[in-house]
Amino acid sequence: MSLKDNIKVIRVKDKVEGGKKAFEIIKEEMEAGLKVIGLPTGSTPETMYEEIRESDLDFSEVIAINLDEYIGLAPDHPQSYHYFMNEKLFNAKPFKETYMPNGLGSETEETEGYDEIIAEHPIDLQILGIGTNAHLGFNEPGSSFDGLTEKVELTEDTIEANKRFFDSADDVPRQAYSMGLASIMSADKIMLIAYGENKADAIADAINGPVTEEVPASILQKHQEVVFILDEAAASKL
Ligand code: GLP
Repeated sequence: MSLKDNIKVIRVKDKVEGGKKAFEIIKEEMEAGLKVIGLPTGSTPETMYEEIRESDLDFSEVIAINLDEYIGLAPDHPQSYHYFMNEKLFNAKPFKETYMPNGLGSETEETEGYDEIIAEHPIDLQILGIGTNAHLGFNEPGSSFDGLTEKVELTEDTIEANKRFFDSADDVPRQAYSMGLASIMSADKIMLIAYGENKADAIADAINGPVTEEVPASILQKHQEVVFILDEAAASKL
């Protein structure tokens, strides 16, 4: 179903089917010459990573650039996004190069340095999840549409939503390094995946609401080619 020329919505039954659909799109893009892929973390892309792990798709010529990392967590910390990516993907699938902000790195290195990496390796396909408050990466409501990679403060909503991965909310880092919304928008194509009722408002606002910095994902309405993979619950308010 096409809502707007630049936005395509694919509805799937559940996260298993969503993972398969996302995998198919990655495969097609690789056949079409994809060289650089932007990758997300979170529970949403887990089934997609599972499909990739179980496939014989060869990523050895592909560069991966991740969206974000918690500040203060070492790469081997079990709740760090480095650890997540190694476990879910990189240990099983060798890539040509992988990049992720270092949660223990200096601000200049992890922001300006990261933007240089993105500029050197323009992203062909950026894959995204979405926060319940419509954040992308860790670009919380109010983030500038012109933002590049930045040190960001997490909102209480996000700390609350992400505490399930930690022993308690107190253990959730308060800051992160995140690719900015302008960095995300620089990708040739974007694929956003969302499952569950708690994402329905964010999805409806992103696709049909006003384009405003209060709804970070609404910036996607201005992108030339976005595909949303949604289960029925996430698509229920469209
Ligand atoms: C985190 C990440 C986002 C992710 C979001 C949703 O805050 N920084 O990149 O999209 O959470 O996570 P989940 O897929 O677990 O709902």
